[in-house]
Amino acid sequence: MIIAIDGPAASGKGTLAKRIADHFGLPCLDTGLLYRAVARDVARRGFRLEDRWAALAAARGLDLDTLGDPALRGAAAGEAASIVAKLPEVRAALLDYQRAFANQRPGAVLDGRDIGTAVCPEADVKIYVTATPEERARRRFVELTARGEAVTYEFVLSVIKDRDARDAGRPDAPMRQADDAILLDTTTLDIEAAFDSAVGSIKRKIGQ
Ligand code: CDP
Repeated sequence: MIIAIDGPAASGKGTLAKRIADHFGLPCLDTGLLYRAVARDVARRGFRLEDRWAALAAARGLDLDTLGDPALRGAAAGEAASIVAKLPEVRAALLDYQRAFANQRPGAVLDGRDIGTAVCPEADVKIYVTATPEERARRRFVELTARGEAVTYEFVLSVIKDRDARDAGRPDAPMRQADDAILLDTTTLDIEAAFDSAVGSIKRKIGQ
């Protein structure tokens, strides 16, 4: 069983994906980490993030053992990721790994922006997790200040809106809800309620 979970930044999709994976006993891949790691490696080698050949080399040479790097979790890494993620060469280079992960037995949960539309269009269940930009900014603001990052709510909101525009506006595999995806709006839901709703939808979809 392949479960594809897509949605914008701070919608809750990452937490939800992990909880769903644990619940169904499936491995989980946070595909955003791949793009974050590619951006990190491009910058480390002294290239600009827009440099498609440097980014392609980083994507092809990505060491998957480095995905646990705590630096990848920061806000700056997410921003950098969305710049290299615009490059079709980078997306293509990361595709085989994501598909192989998805196709392992007995299945997998993947979260990202294009899992239901481009990586696994044949996924058994697709969930598009979203929330208003204001609510997502509020969550991200709480998370970042708890980690000691000095940011204002207004700044976080403008960054969220810019990132949405970049991810939804790119020509190659833009962020969008797949036609057959279940929409889960978490604006007024806490993680527990979002999880219950997602599990209910998955069970209905697979006829359990
Ligand atoms: O956690 P958050 O939603 O902030 O970010 P993420 O899921 O780690 O993704 C970081 C960036 O990587 C996104 O803004 C996208 O530009 C890119 N990405 C993508 O293009 N396709 C994916 N399947 C996953 C992430």
